[in-house]
Amino acid sequence: MFSFLHFPNFLKPRHSLPLQGILLLEEGIKLFTPQGYSASKNPSLALISPPAENFATSFSENSDQWQPTFFTHGSFFIVTLSLPRKVSLYGTGEVRGSLLRNGKEIELWNTDNFKYQRAGGRRLYQSHPWVLGVREDGSSFGVLFDTTWKASLKTGRRNIVFKSTGGPCRVLIIDRPSPQQVLEALANLTGKIELPPKWALGFHQSRYSYYPDSHVCDIANEYRRRHLPCDAIWMDIDYMDGYRIFSFDPNGFPNPRAINDYLHEHGFHSVWMIDPGVKVDANDPIYQSGSAKKVWVTSKDGREFQGLVWPGSCSFPDFTSPEVRTWWAEHYQKFMAQGVDGVWNDMNEPAVFKTKSGTMPEDNEHRGGGSLPPGPHLMYHNVYGMLMTMASQEGIRKALPERRPFLLTRSSFLGGQRYAATWTGDNASSMKFLKMSLPMSLNLGLSGQPFSGPDLGGFLGKITPDLFGKWISMAPFFPFSRAHTDKSNPPREPWSFGPTIEQVSRTALERRYRLLPYIYTLAYYASLRGDLMMQPLFFADPYDLALRKEDRAFLLGPDLLVIPAWIKTSSWGIKRPLALPKGAWHQVHLLPKNREEDGYQADIKLRSGAILPLGAIVEHSGQNSSKLTLLINPDKEGKASGMLYEDAGDGFGYRHGEYCLTRWEASSEKGNLEVKRIVQAGAMPSSYHQIEIQWIGEKKETSC
Ligand code: GLC
Repeated sequence: MFSFLHFPNFLKPRHSLPLQGILLLEEGIKLFTPQGYSASKNPSLALISPPAENFATSFSENSDQWQPTFFTHGSFFIVTLSLPRKVSLYGTGEVRGSLLRNGKEIELWNTDNFKYQRAGGRRLYQSHPWVLGVREDGSSFGVLFDTTWKASLKTGRRNIVFKSTGGPCRVLIIDRPSPQQVLEALANLTGKIELPPKWALGFHQSRYSYYPDSHVCDIANEYRRRHLPCDAIWMDIDYMDGYRIFSFDPNGFPNPRAINDYLHEHGFHSVWMIDPGVKVDANDPIYQSGSAKKVWVTSKDGREFQGLVWPGSCSFPDFTSPEVRTWWAEHYQKFMAQGVDGVWNDMNEPAVFKTKSGTMPEDNEHRGGGSLPPGPHLMYHNVYGMLMTMASQEGIRKALPERRPFLLTRSSFLGGQRYAATWTGDNASSMKFLKMSLPMSLNLGLSGQPFSGPDLGGFLGKITPDLFGKWISMAPFFPFSRAHTDKSNPPREPWSFGPTIEQVSRTALERRYRLLPYIYTLAYYASLRGDLMMQPLFFADPYDLALRKEDRAFLLGPDLLVIPAWIKTSSWGIKRPLALPKGAWHQVHLLPKNREEDGYQADIKLRSGAILPLGAIVEHSGQNSSKLTLLINPDKEGKASGMLYEDAGDGFGYRHGEYCLTRWEASSEKGNLEVKRIVQAGAMPSSYHQIEIQWIGEKKETSC
């Protein structure tokens, strides 16, 4: 199979390109510019405020310093960076395979990749030209190749080789004492997630597609009748009229407002899909207004490019233009006014059916505008989805200025976390994909996107009740927790698998809702500092080399260790012993022990010295309870602490002080137990009035 990575280029000589300058952005963050770099050929879309091009004066020659070397090789631009001994590599975005990224080759070319089969799975739906390295001593560095062009990345034993189809690009290196600090710096440079509305952190139910609208109500009713917690129901493409975006099928969804009202009355939120392809149809208002404004991506010859997607022949908005983004954003006004709560942007690689490449031609033209130069699709392909989400987010914000936008995207790029959460596309139901979903979300987090998750249950292929039980047992832990499946599959809601698996699902979902105060606090820190919600195990102890490749267990935030039950019971089980962090992590239960011991639920362990805030079991996040449980695992000195963030759950009042950030401190000395509630910030009173304290280890009860 043709691979861009191995394109034979040996007849061409390799020319080294000297450095033009090094800019010290701040202590430990350097930007390396090769000669020949030009912002008009390599605009930065990853960085929020790319430094100006002209900084030659800051050039400093120092041959000892660790720095990238630059080459040209035929039409390619190449960067190599030597690696320290025994370094562990991570990141590189949405990738299949193991957590550890040493010795991997990937292509950076966003691809609609059904079952991750195309190009051997070396490219998926998003691109992150970014590698995180953790040295033997736990200190860490990150390398950002600041280009959007089609590229490849190879992480060898001695070096990293980045090969781009664009001209010379800048390379940014962050050096910090720990991986967490590198990621914090990355978040400062490329952006953080928006604090999501609380409902977006609940459990979501989706399928391709619930149709007609009465089916949506049935699903909502079943969830409530069976007391299965759930916060959102998703509308896939079949709600549309002939797959025309921003339209509603007059037979199946004649009154979307009524459906949304019904969902809201029952404590659900709704998320509706919008794809980028606009049906070529002279009677379609979106196509009409887009054509009048000439918003479409054009072919090399300047004609409107058209390609096949769900509606048939489609034209594609050119999101590189600020005017086109504004035009796109305006359509959300009427759409959101139907009571829509969240939006799902799909097919935005962009996917184009019945083409060899699966997308539009590389020589299609984008007009650019604002800070973006005009350029070929080869340059803008990887950011097409991200620019779409930028426009969608702007539209949702304008339509619902009082609400926090919630947007999910399939395609994205480094920095895309600023606009949307993401999921890992069309996975399969198998055990292999279930296992892979953990390192996938972990590496997305290690690439700046903390808000992700897979299609729980798997999108494609058959599933047994047992396998569904294994998938749903992970619902408590992914930052984005949604069950979704393909059109051809029979029903996959928890009750479709019989009473045993329904109960397994109920236990898993109730565990998520008990964890919600903690998960919401993690989301707050992700939005504030770029912290990861789901974290690799080695974050617990970056010095412990044994943890570096462990990707069967993981951390939820800094305090909870999660060990899936299926690693013990399936053929994916423990062939090598599970590496676990040292220290007194204590197994905890969120529900009565006998309910959690159903053979499916993951073991969870609380860090020594941590306090875990747990909510009551609710059926959706809007159901308030004033009871909070604090699970306390005191350290050797008998001390523990934990944070809790609360606010209205939606809206922007929190930006003006309407929140409550509490630090809980516990100590037990000479049999005296004390728990202190210290309000650290915010002007809102806590909504928790009844605090239950559970000490781990000793059976002690106290109050604060
Ligand atoms: C794509 C998406 C999938 C969706 C389907 C129909 O395959 O990845 O999630 O259900 O399109 O819209």
